[in-house]
Amino acid sequence: LATALTLGALALGTQTAMAQCDDGEMVIKFAHVVAASGHPKGDAATLFADRVNEEMNGVACMEVFPNSTLFDDDKVMEALLLGDVQLAAPSLSKFEAYTLKYRLFDLPFLFSDLDAVSRFFATDTAKDLLLATEEVGYTGLGYWSSGMKQFSANKPLILPEDGNGLKFRIQTSDVAEAMIGAMGGSAQKLAFSEVYGALQTKVVDGQENTWSNIYTQKFFEVQDGITETNHQLLAYLLVTSTEWLESLEPDVRDQFLKIAEEATVSANNSVAEQEAKNRQNILDAGGTIRELNEEQRAAWVAVMKPVWAEFEADVGTDNIAAAEAANT
Ligand code: LMR
Repeated sequence: LATALTLGALALGTQTAMAQCDDGEMVIKFAHVVAASGHPKGDAATLFADRVNEEMNGVACMEVFPNSTLFDDDKVMEALLLGDVQLAAPSLSKFEAYTLKYRLFDLPFLFSDLDAVSRFFATDTAKDLLLATEEVGYTGLGYWSSGMKQFSANKPLILPEDGNGLKFRIQTSDVAEAMIGAMGGSAQKLAFSEVYGALQTKVVDGQENTWSNIYTQKFFEVQDGITETNHQLLAYLLVTSTEWLESLEPDVRDQFLKIAEEATVSANNSVAEQEAKNRQNILDAGGTIRELNEEQRAAWVAVMKPVWAEFEADVGTDNIAAAEAANT
């Protein structure tokens, strides 16, 4: 079966880290929506699977399904509870239906850079938040950072008012919706796999994402240019079903969790480098990147930061303070 799936994936032009699972091995399926390689999440998932397949050989076998080939981010949450998949890493913006606390991570201009994000992930506040969806059956195993988001559109965006009247694709995030509203634009929630087509056919005028997503999905090819706003974090929750995790034999669970933890550390260590590489890849491929001067950036901050007030009660002022403290 594994071979048939691998051939199917190749025929579709996708690349999967499909392991050959032996009889008797527990199969761990990991579904995600981004490129299989050259992307922080794609690479981290492969590394995680490689380690499980080597170190837990005979006991467990991990298969990775990238590029929304198995489930999109909405469906994957349900699939985790049904046991159709055991691991996923949706962005923290996509947890609206399960907890409102993760709106924290979406607050615009909350983190000064990826180092601040790493410092915050190491705090007790962030560790407690890993379990925010436990009541509804999920266990967060770790945060996988992906980068800061940049805006792009079918016309140059220098100041936030340049987005006035434009329609932007967003993830299923009410914070993002409020942020786009503050720019005078309108927001449309769309699955990741639909973004390229929506940009190409002008269903939407623009989008916001990381350098890695903009490059690997080729969004830059169907946009006028990308503005280096670094306005928001994109990070994922490596998540599993609590029931599945608890069903594992204690020694198997311990070994699995240890590998998950180490894979998380090494994934987060290479994000900045991968992001810089994909920023350069966009330039090398002929894409346009616009940098903001201090004054222009201050205008984006002034327009977007006021949306925090709307979400403070959901995320908790203490959590905001803890996140801001990681900036220094
Ligand atoms: C998006 O939908 O834009 C992102 O969450 C995709 C991803 O997983 O990076």
